[in-house]
Amino acid sequence: MSTKKQLRIGLIGCGFMGRTHSNGYLRVKNFFPDLAYQPVLKAVCSRTESKARAFAEQWGYESVETDWKALIARNDIDAVDICTPNDMHAEIAIAAAAAGKMILCEKPLARTLKESEGMVDAIEKAGVANTVWYNYRRLPAVTLAKQIIDSGKLGRIFHYRANFLQDWTINADLPQGGAALWRMDADVAGSGVVGDLLSHCIDTALWLNGSITNVTAMTETFVKERMHQLTGKVEKVNIDDACSFLCRFSNGSLGLFESTRYARGHKALYTFEINGENASIRWDLHDLNRLEYFDNADDSTLRGWRSIHVTDGDQPYMDKWWVPGLGIGYEHSFVHQAADFLKSLETGAPCSPTFKEALETQKVCQAVLDSAASGAWKDTEAL
Ligand SMILES: NC(=O)c1ccc[n+]([C@@H]2O[C@H](COP(=O)([O-])OP(=O)(O)OC[C@H]3O[C@@H](n4cnc5c(N)ncnc54)[C@H](O)[C@@H]3O)[C@@H](O)[C@H]2O)c1
Repeated sequence: MSTKKQLRIGLIGCGFMGRTHSNGYLRVKNFFPDLAYQPVLKAVCSRTESKARAFAEQWGYESVETDWKALIARNDIDAVDICTPNDMHAEIAIAAAAAGKMILCEKPLARTLKESEGMVDAIEKAGVANTVWYNYRRLPAVTLAKQIIDSGKLGRIFHYRANFLQDWTINADLPQGGAALWRMDADVAGSGVVGDLLSHCIDTALWLNGSITNVTAMTETFVKERMHQLTGKVEKVNIDDACSFLCRFSNGSLGLFESTRYARGHKALYTFEINGENASIRWDLHDLNRLEYFDNADDSTLRGWRSIHVTDGDQPYMDKWWVPGLGIGYEHSFVHQAADFLKSLETGAPCSPTFKEALETQKVCQAVLDSAASGAWKDTEAL
């Protein structure tokens, strides 16, 4: 019998993220033994009972629900974890906050800025602990980038560049909508690559390089009509397949962002590069344990890009894993966020990004979409 304080989790949505979060809660017990709190997988909710039962058995949930409202109404749930498609985030989060539950919500916060603002209001009114799963912040190499930037080693920052490239929607016969393809349906997803992929790039950028003041963007929908799986009819596609935008940060640096699902050969190529007066940093999700660093103060005969394998015990999170030199993976970012959320309950400090912090990402996403629609620069502070 554990002597730890319990955080009783109610998970909603048994898809991709339902699995990564469940894995996070399970692993945190083994690898973060010093935490005062321990997650207890109390209940999982899927609309289909057989699916919920199979998921509960696979991941060790004690019980199942088929209606998320019933899950929220339970007295034996402390925290609600929202792993549903984007159209459900606001309704569930607002109801969970009203029921006094802590909330861990998948990104993007919601489909639109307006929906997101309603969520932040509800959370603030309820005063419940909350976090949004912008998990890339918690890959050790990305956290190390943050530490290097905060130490001032880069000096004045001139440029921030990020890409998130995929190729899975190039096929013009791919339908839109329905269980597997909700990302193609604007009514469910809110937007295309802007909310799905650029939101990650923007969250990391705001964290590493501060606020974005204004943007100019272009979007494109390469395939304009697709069969909708729920209606069986060919319907207009309302999501953005690709988006590029330029921006200015409040620290005076310039930003260049690109995301597309039409970059043949790329499955999930998230990269960023930051160029400062004294040094530069770059990172690539496909080689996620590595951080590249160029320091202009190095001896000129030895100067060059260093490739840092971020696996040593004095680098972020790595004292919790194996031995120096052995890498970790994508899934560990979720273990780290679960650990940081549990730690935040112990310390009382918020677990970033909170809903309020994630609202800043929503503002930039909205500014990007507005600018692409109008063709004009858009000021984020005016939103
Ligand atoms: N942090 C990340 O890196 C990351 C990666 C992928 C997805 N996401 C986000 O996570 C969320 C879920 O994405 P996913 O890839 O897991 O999708 P998914 O389609 O794999 O899973 C969604 C699940 O929600 C269930 N669901 C839908 N409506 C429901 C309802 N009313 N009640 C209960 N269950 C319901 C579906 O049946 C499905 O099992 C999205 O908001 C997405 O943007 C984040």
